[in-house]
Amino acid sequence: MAEQHSERYVKVRLNSLYTKEPIPFDLYVLINQKQIHYLRAGDMLSKEKLERFENKAPESFFVRLEDRPAFKKYVRDKLNSAVLDPHEKAVMLRESSLTLIEELFESPAIDQALQESKEVIQQFVDLMEAEPDAMADLVGLSSHDFYTYTHSLDVGIYSLGLANVMSYTREQLIEMGQGALFHDIGKRQVSVDIITKDGPLNDLEWAQMQKHPEYGLAILIDHKASEAIKACSFEHHESSAGNGYPQQLQAKEIHPMAKIVALTDTFDALTTQRSYNKPMKPSAALEFMRTKLAGRYDTDLLRAMYEVLFRMDDRLKQTS
Ligand SMILES: [Fe+2]
Ligand SMILES: [Fe+2]
Repeated sequence: MAEQHSERYVKVRLNSLYTKEPIPFDLYVLINQKQIHYLRAGDMLSKEKLERFENKAPESFFVRLEDRPAFKKYVRDKLNSAVLDPHEKAVMLRESSLTLIEELFESPAIDQALQESKEVIQQFVDLMEAEPDAMADLVGLSSHDFYTYTHSLDVGIYSLGLANVMSYTREQLIEMGQGALFHDIGKRQVSVDIITKDGPLNDLEWAQMQKHPEYGLAILIDHKASEAIKACSFEHHESSAGNGYPQQLQAKEIHPMAKIVALTDTFDALTTQRSYNKPMKPSAALEFMRTKLAGRYDTDLLRAMYEVLFRMDDRLKQTS
């Protein structure tokens, strides 16, 4: 094991690597804050090798920055090949996207983030087209996690599922997915202490948090994002009842894609574990939105969301 000092690395999640074929790039593992060489390109990342870790194999490995294109090509090839079944493809796509999205959210290069997010969303749309059943897998894999990047990916996946049920075209689906991925991009400008606060926010903190749609709009205007993508950020806390923020828009004034994000964003928040509240089950969350939050969400979309989730239930019944 040779130590590496001067190189830069990107994270790749273990579940985005296939253990039954050779890995075409070197892998590194993080030990004491250093990337240590772990696997030579062309070798297998076999289950036996992974079992040799003292405790448990790490969730993520690293590849050299210069191998990032090779990693992306590897994922693309696997998604297009017949070696993986739809469920394995869904896992690989979700896991490989998570690290990319984590990077995008930290990167100051928004133009590049918008471009790369488009490639990610295209892969999701491709998978949905090629394997109609994979959406159920993707929805089922939702981590119900509160980190902005996992939340954003989950909102992206639910939004794609909804837009698909609403018969959006391929181009619209791609815009939908990007808009959903970037809906909370304005949170970059909100202090980390508020974002990660372990409990309800006070009035001042809440006022600061409620600025994120405007911050998001400003960022996206600077980087010439499309109207729909900007609307997903600026209007995703509007409500069809006219009591949302920041503009208190009426139902017909809210962009259709922002209405989708408003619904999937709330759904994800209600079903997510936070230290101060218990997550709701998907069916309970939808019922809560339909009754206690009546009027806020488009009723056609709420019905469509049942369809996105019930399809998953049908499949779970078939496989159990
Ligand atoms: Fe938000
Ligand atoms: Fe959100």
